[in-house]
Amino acid sequence: MEKVTIKIDGKDYQAEEGDTILKIAHKNGIKIPSLCFHPDAKARSNCRMCVVEIKGNKNLQTSCSTKVTEGMEIITDSGRIKRARKINLELIFSQHQEECDDCVSLDSCRLLKYQKEFGAEINKFPDRKKNRKIVQTGPIVFDWTKCIDCRLCADVCPVEFLEVENRGADIAIEASSDEKKECINCGQCIVHCPVGAIEAEGEFEEIEKPLADKSKTVIIQFAPAIRSSIGEEFGMEAGSIVTDQMVAGMKKLGFSKVFDTSVAADFTTYEEAQELLERVKTGKNLPAFSSCCPAWVKFLEFYYPEFIHNLCTSRSPQIMMGGILKTYWAKENNVDPKDIIVVSVMPCTAKKFEVKREEMKLENGCFPVDYVLTTREMARLFKKHNIDLKNIEPEKADNPFGDPSGAGVIYGASGGVFESAFRTAYFMATGKNMENVDVKEIRGLEGIKIKELKLGDTILKVAVVSGIKNAQKMLEELKKNPSAFHAMEVMACPGGCIGGGGQPIPNTPEIRKKRAQALYQVDAEKKMRLAHENPSVLEAYEKHFTDKEIIHKVLHTSYQQRKKSEVKELKSSRGD
Ligand code: SF4
Ligand code: SF4
Ligand code: SF4
Ligand code: FES
Repeated sequence: MEKVTIKIDGKDYQAEEGDTILKIAHKNGIKIPSLCFHPDAKARSNCRMCVVEIKGNKNLQTSCSTKVTEGMEIITDSGRIKRARKINLELIFSQHQEECDDCVSLDSCRLLKYQKEFGAEINKFPDRKKNRKIVQTGPIVFDWTKCIDCRLCADVCPVEFLEVENRGADIAIEASSDEKKECINCGQCIVHCPVGAIEAEGEFEEIEKPLADKSKTVIIQFAPAIRSSIGEEFGMEAGSIVTDQMVAGMKKLGFSKVFDTSVAADFTTYEEAQELLERVKTGKNLPAFSSCCPAWVKFLEFYYPEFIHNLCTSRSPQIMMGGILKTYWAKENNVDPKDIIVVSVMPCTAKKFEVKREEMKLENGCFPVDYVLTTREMARLFKKHNIDLKNIEPEKADNPFGDPSGAGVIYGASGGVFESAFRTAYFMATGKNMENVDVKEIRGLEGIKIKELKLGDTILKVAVVSGIKNAQKMLEELKKNPSAFHAMEVMACPGGCIGGGGQPIPNTPEIRKKRAQALYQVDAEKKMRLAHENPSVLEAYEKHFTDKEIIHKVLHTSYQQRKKSEVKELKSSRGD
């Protein structure tokens, strides 16, 4: 790329030809407001909040879509720009029904921030959207009365479930009624919507009832990817590790036990590594697909049922933890499983669907997990109870499920599931541990990573994929060449669960990178880095998971071809 020199607000900057003004400005710490632009999608220049003056141009230009050229002179702040931004904002407010008290984006709302900054009148123009519908499918709620038509959600939805209807002033985003399209609950539309118009069904207030019920043992578990992201909700840098502060907050809320889902990830690794080796040995159901991402599983069940048999049957870590608690732990602690309530904190909206799958029901009639909170919901619950993770004395999670291996923690980043399984499969296949357990070649935020790894005498060809569009490419590839790989890890969200639909907003490539790096750092600093060396796992297998039947019932599952779910109307409108 050619280097160019440009002037922003009278100062010279070096840039690469082809970069946008917004990108260069942000890179150099120059603030330009933006609503409809997200680095994960193409610029559509809808909101016009990012307008700037360019010398020689009569009209204001949108900085998110205008590329820099040699000698360009840009002004980012002037009376004219401020007036334009104010009027654009007032027009945007006419499309957005404010329901701020209920809004999960309240703390990070850019609309309100800009409203104050530019002195915009919220009700200058009549509300155009109040007669639009609020609809729900699975756990995802679409409030079209808030939608400002930026189209980001439709651009990032990997299954084209969100459709753009009409043109011009009548443009509207709708949930598809096409029987061949199904929402996979990944929540990517949520973390890209700039105005909180889409959210997962909230459960954070519901759990207060069982918490107050003394006859119940209410246990909370938290996913690997939460520890490096929830701090952002309390003003910390992305990638700040707050595991012990979060545990302290959970204990303050009154949970009987706080367990780490990363320990359950060690169980998943143990099972998945065996499945992988068995399949490689027999040549059956290859390539083996990872199965801990419920959005990926649902995608496969609905769109590519012919590949269902490729999914590993090992349950996901959150489901394994719930099952282990309501069988083995209940027995060890003499508690009736029916009196145990399991709450999960997940970076994920699809996990809210996963816990309701009938296939997950245990033999004792219990579902393994009762409630799922997203990272954002957990932060809201803390804030409601004045718990600030920045100012709390750290505490350790409880045993026997409080101390994971490093392998269990990296499950939160793309490549982490396979790296963990590989470390254990290597031991199972060769009888010794890898000399260096880092499998760096499959790390990173790239959407498709294809590598060959040496496992004893076998060369394993693996694909590590994040993003459903990338997974689709690989499935099409597999249709042509079914033996292209031995194994494929798929995470629906960009970069894996660190970029999940339940994570704090904003959720940009830069932020995801920091969250992922922090998880690898935790792993690197751990003494115990291998799932098969976790004493809690070994003890559970010794005491309880002693035969195939019980292992199968609690730690494995099955899958089914799915039909389209209902898109139900919650309220026809907020109109009078
Ligand atoms: S949750 Fe995922 S699949 Fe469903 S509409 Fe949003 S982006 Fe699309
Ligand atoms: S729902 Fe949100 S992301 Fe989708 S078009 Fe409306 S404002 Fe944009
Ligand atoms: S990648 Fe993680 S956060 Fe995203 S849908 Fe899958 S399990 Fe959920
Ligand atoms: S951010 Fe540039 S037009 Fe919306």
